[in-house]
Amino acid sequence: MSTSFQVHTSKDKEQLAQDFARYFADWANQQTKLASVALSGGSTPKRFFEILATDYRDKIDWSSLLFFWGDDRCVPPDHEESNYKMANDLFLKQVGVPVSNIFRVRGEDDPAAEAIRYSEIIEQTLPTENGLPVFDFMLQGMGDDGHTASIFPDQMELLTNPATCAVATHPVSGQKRVTLTGPVINNAKLIVFLVAGENKAAKVASVLQKDAESEAYPATHIQANNGELLWYLDQGAAQLA
Ligand code: 6PG
Repeated sequence: MSTSFQVHTSKDKEQLAQDFARYFADWANQQTKLASVALSGGSTPKRFFEILATDYRDKIDWSSLLFFWGDDRCVPPDHEESNYKMANDLFLKQVGVPVSNIFRVRGEDDPAAEAIRYSEIIEQTLPTENGLPVFDFMLQGMGDDGHTASIFPDQMELLTNPATCAVATHPVSGQKRVTLTGPVINNAKLIVFLVAGENKAAKVASVLQKDAESEAYPATHIQANNGELLWYLDQGAAQLA
């Protein structure tokens, strides 16, 4: 199991988005075959998505990438809280990713049925390694409670759930989510956490230092068992690490 990781720190949120967009473009252009990307949601990736649409529209062969989500909310695809809507509006449709390369969670459908359907889509579309579907690029965010994807601290069983996807429940809002589970996330070739803001600094430090409290944070248990783990941070999030 790989317990090592690399950390890249940018001076602020804008620079982080610029640095990460460059990293992603370099990675994309090094791929020699159709490559799969699992996107995270939330607010952090927004600026990154915008930069892809403006600065990298013509610098990446978008038809060589397949886009999935590490998690999405169980809301319709035109709902303001849809991670799919955010990515599609900000860059996927802007840069012309073929619709057939976009595999969204059908948030409008029954969560349990969709978790099964999405699992099957992923298993049928991606290669298998270690008995699990393998993503080439897994983008993860981290909440200020240490959650990642939609694996929350009160649902740690999702870290070991053998299904490819499962239904999660947001601990505050009760909103249902479909999320990749820990084993599939950890089976990715490349896992990158993109985390910004001083409100995340304490958790980032705890997770990177693997202190006693970190055991309770799902992000701690994301280890690239089958590849590389990277953290892209701004100075705010990195300040205590
Ligand atoms: C989601 C995300 C989630 C997110 C973190 C960080 O669906 O909300 O996938 O895991 O990455 O909550 O969110 P922010 O970027 O908004 O802080």
